[in-house]
Amino acid sequence: MKAIILSGGKGTRLRPLTYTGAKQLVPVANKPILWYGIESIVEAGITEIGIIISPETGEEVKAKTGNGDRFGAKITYILQDQPAGLAHAVKIAQPFLGDSPFVMYLGDNLVQSELGLFLEHFHSHQLDALTMLCPVENPSAFGVAEVDEKGRLLRLVEKPKVPPSNLALVGIYIFSNAIHGAIAAIQPSARGELEITDAIQTLIEQQKAVEAKQIRGWWLDTGKKDDLLEANRVILDTCCMEPKNQGEMDADSKIIGRVQLGAGTKVVNSTIRGPVVIGDNCHIENCFIGPYTSIADQVKMVDVDLEHSVLLQGATVEGIHHRIVDSLIGQRAQLKEAPKRPKALRFMVGDDCQIELA
Ligand code: TTP
Repeated sequence: MKAIILSGGKGTRLRPLTYTGAKQLVPVANKPILWYGIESIVEAGITEIGIIISPETGEEVKAKTGNGDRFGAKITYILQDQPAGLAHAVKIAQPFLGDSPFVMYLGDNLVQSELGLFLEHFHSHQLDALTMLCPVENPSAFGVAEVDEKGRLLRLVEKPKVPPSNLALVGIYIFSNAIHGAIAAIQPSARGELEITDAIQTLIEQQKAVEAKQIRGWWLDTGKKDDLLEANRVILDTCCMEPKNQGEMDADSKIIGRVQLGAGTKVVNSTIRGPVVIGDNCHIENCFIGPYTSIADQVKMVDVDLEHSVLLQGATVEGIHHRIVDSLIGQRAQLKEAPKRPKALRFMVGDDCQIELA
């Protein structure tokens, strides 16, 4: 059994962060989204993993994730020269996959699921495809499945106006080698992509054994800012994060609840109320940091009140006289009090940024 994780694509919905980096590397609770997928695959007993990368962000994904040693896996990188669709990614991964059955995992998904149980079901029922489903409130925004009472998949529809069910396709699939023939038989869709839903529909029409099963845990999309903040909240809430303090804290500072402080991080005259995770070599002074906040390495925060936010590596936030909430602050971004007169707001804002002033 092998696995592929799709970590190419454009990431348009997470701009501006994705102008300079891969969306799959954006951290949730200070860990790249992609790594949650790798860990879940390894936990299910699969150690041969191919990661699909794009020319734009592939080198960064490789440099950060490495050869798999840290996960106890062997990672092979597979370059997809353009984001021509999920089924296209499988097509170019075929030399890596050979005839092996495999898990296909979308690298921007966070799913709490027992992948091992799904694998057992796939093997014991000798399936050609097993898709994972999750009930959602707005099925029209997703790929939706129609399933019979035995769990057999009858039909898949992409973003239907009238959804046949509330069961959305989670970005995890298990396939036998029959999928390669189905992909060879499909044409690009109206948006110009080779769609995995079309390939699965072809398997259904060929009377192959195609089933769908609901996941029992949560499924979090991380495509947009608010999705990402929600993912950060859920992970900080549910993943067993032990309080850990490798940093330094002065006597005027207070830590309440589950808080992790990384090595070399200094906290001066500040209150931190968990769940909060703070990376290495940060400087936090005269701050209140509230629940559901993740702060990456080398962040500087002085005179700031902040909660329910994600700060990426090297960001600086200083002397802001309003509470900051629901915010995603990119790498090396600087939010500072204006040092000079006239008292005014001064911006240098990159493309596609969003700023809301009180
Ligand atoms: P999507 O979220 O469907 O596409 P995208 O990354 O282009 O995102 P956006 O809508 O923000 O522009 O992709 C799901 C996952 O699959 C994501 O991790 C990117 C990856 N992917 C590939 O690796 N190759 C592809 O050809 C496509 C379409 C996606």
